[in-house]
Amino acid sequence: MQRIAVKDLAPGMVAAKSIYTADGRMLLAEGATFTKRYINRLQELGIWVAYIQNPLAVSIDVPDILAEETRVKAISTVKEAFEGFRNTKKIDMGQFKQLTEGIVDEIIRNPNAVFHLNDIRMYDDYTFAHSVNVCVLAVLVGAALQYTPRQLMELGVGAVLHDVGKMAIEKQILNKPGHLSESEMDLMRRHPELGFEILRKYSAQLSWLSIHVAFQHQEKFDGSGYPRGLKETDIHEYARITAIADVYDALTSDRPYRPALSPGEAYEFLLAGSGTHFDPDILREFLRHVALYPVGSIVKLNTGDIGIVTHVFSGLQTRPIVRLLVDASNTLYNSDAEIDLSTELTVFVNQVLPELDVATLARRIGNPALTRIEVG
Ligand SMILES: [Fe+2]
Repeated sequence: MQRIAVKDLAPGMVAAKSIYTADGRMLLAEGATFTKRYINRLQELGIWVAYIQNPLAVSIDVPDILAEETRVKAISTVKEAFEGFRNTKKIDMGQFKQLTEGIVDEIIRNPNAVFHLNDIRMYDDYTFAHSVNVCVLAVLVGAALQYTPRQLMELGVGAVLHDVGKMAIEKQILNKPGHLSESEMDLMRRHPELGFEILRKYSAQLSWLSIHVAFQHQEKFDGSGYPRGLKETDIHEYARITAIADVYDALTSDRPYRPALSPGEAYEFLLAGSGTHFDPDILREFLRHVALYPVGSIVKLNTGDIGIVTHVFSGLQTRPIVRLLVDASNTLYNSDAEIDLSTELTVFVNQVLPELDVATLARRIGNPALTRIEVG
C-alpha cells in the first residue's frame, strides 16, 4: 500500500483503501481502478491523498488501531451530534459514551499499538474526524499510563468533546480558508470556554474531569496558553494528554491551506514544544505510540538501499523493519529481502522518499525493463 497525492494519481492505479465521504458513504471501494473521472471527482471534493496498491507492496497491511468500520461510524456520530447541536442546542451524551466505549475496548485489546497515519479525511469532515482521532490518540496514551477503564472513559469522552465549543461559533468563521481577522481570532479562542458552558449543563451525565478537558486543552505547560494561563499540574493530566493529541492530529491532517506534515516533521514540532507547550513526561509516552515512519512509508537507508516499512515496534520509532526494494546501484532486490533496523544497529533511515519519487519507483518496479530511476 502506498500513500500518494491525488494530483499524482494516474488512471489505471488501483485503490488500496476505500475512500469515504464525510457522512460515511463509500466513494470508491478498495480494489477499484482509478479513472480520469474518479480522480477529477476526488480533486473536486478536496481530497488530497489516496492509497494505491504498488506491485511489490501488495502484501503489506497498514495496521489499524481502530477497525475502519468503528472509525467511520464514530466520525458520522460526532458529525450528526455536533451539527444537530447547532439547531437544537442539545446533545445526546449517551452516544458519545457509547462511541468512546467502543474505542476504549479496541485499544485495551491492543495496548502496544502504534498509531499510523492511514485515514483519508475530507475538509468538511475535519472537526469530526479530528475529534475521533484525538480521542483515539488520548486513550492510547492513557492506556500506556496504566489508566483504569473508568479513567480511560473520562479521558476519552473529554477528548472526543474537546472542541464542542466550536459548534457555538458560526460556520463561516470556522471553515474560513484564509486568515482570520483579529475579532474572529478572539472568537475562535473562546471555544474552550464555550465548550465548558455547553458541557456543564450535562454534569449529571458527564464527569467534571471530562468537561475540564474541553476547558483546559488549549492551556500550555509553561502557563502561556488560554483561557486561564494555567501551568504544569494545575492543568489536569487529561487535558495535558489531549493537548498533545490535538496538536499532533492537526499537524498531520491535510488542511485547505496546506497539505499535512509528515509524521517525522510533526514529531520534531512536538519535541520542540517539550516542557514549554507540552508536559515532557506525557510527550515522551505519546511519541512511543506514533509511528515516525508509518507502515507503507518508502525510506532511503544510509546504505543507499530503498525499501518500504513493514513493521514498527512501539518505543523504537526510528528502527522499523524495512522490506528492501532497490539497492544503491539501482538493482531490484528479491521480494523477500528485508532488514530489521531494531537489530541492525549500523543501518538507519536517512530520508523518507517524497511521493513523486515513489511514483517513479513504483513504475520502475512494475516494469523491470526500465534500468534507470531518479530517486532520493
Ligand atoms: Fe481546540
